[in-house]
Amino acid sequence: MEGGPFSRYYSLDSLLIRPSNLKEAPVTQQTPPMVGRTRHTELTLDQIAEMQPGLGALMPQVSDRYWILYYAAKGGNWPLARHQLGEIRGLLRLGATTRPRYADHLNAFINGPLSALEKALGQQDIPAFEGAFQKGVEGANRYHQVTGHPEIVWQLPLDPPKHLSLKPPPQGANP
Ligand code: HEM
Repeated sequence: MEGGPFSRYYSLDSLLIRPSNLKEAPVTQQTPPMVGRTRHTELTLDQIAEMQPGLGALMPQVSDRYWILYYAAKGGNWPLARHQLGEIRGLLRLGATTRPRYADHLNAFINGPLSALEKALGQQDIPAFEGAFQKGVEGANRYHQVTGHPEIVWQLPLDPPKHLSLKPPPQGANP
């Protein structure tokens, strides 16, 4: 008799073990999310990524360093001024990475006002420095406007910072 008792239900072809007849094994275990552990808790990679600083966290640091940079140059501590500039560039690059929608503006600021300032610092040229610094202030405040923050108008504090020496460093420390 053709097919036998099960022929109504299963064709012989469907019972053969061949790749097209094998169903995927049910997923019994999901891959656990990657976590980092501290003494206090576990954080997933997504939680750690979410904590990376945006401009709201970075800008106060940029602001302080820009202020210190000014008074360091005016006081003759050129290495300190150059150090601040390098740190500002690093902060802006970090902002461009964590908030790519601002990357074009941030990179334009780095390659424009900030590199003019770097040149003036390198030449220890106070009038050129003053001009480049002021252009940086105007540029930053324009970016605040175009990024929807016209309320943020940076201004140079009238007093120099008191926690760092602004005098020229001892001989030999000025590379
Ligand atoms: C030396 C240059 C700059 C200085 C001194 C500066 C200063 C500041 C300050 C003081 C704040 C307010 C921070 C706070 O909430 O306490 C701020 C916020 C901000 N700045 Fe700048 N800024 C500079 C350059 C730029 C540039 C080039 C951009 C271009 C995208 C930019 C975009 C922003 C944005 C979007 C905020 C608002 C961040 C937020 O609260 O979400 N800034 N900046």
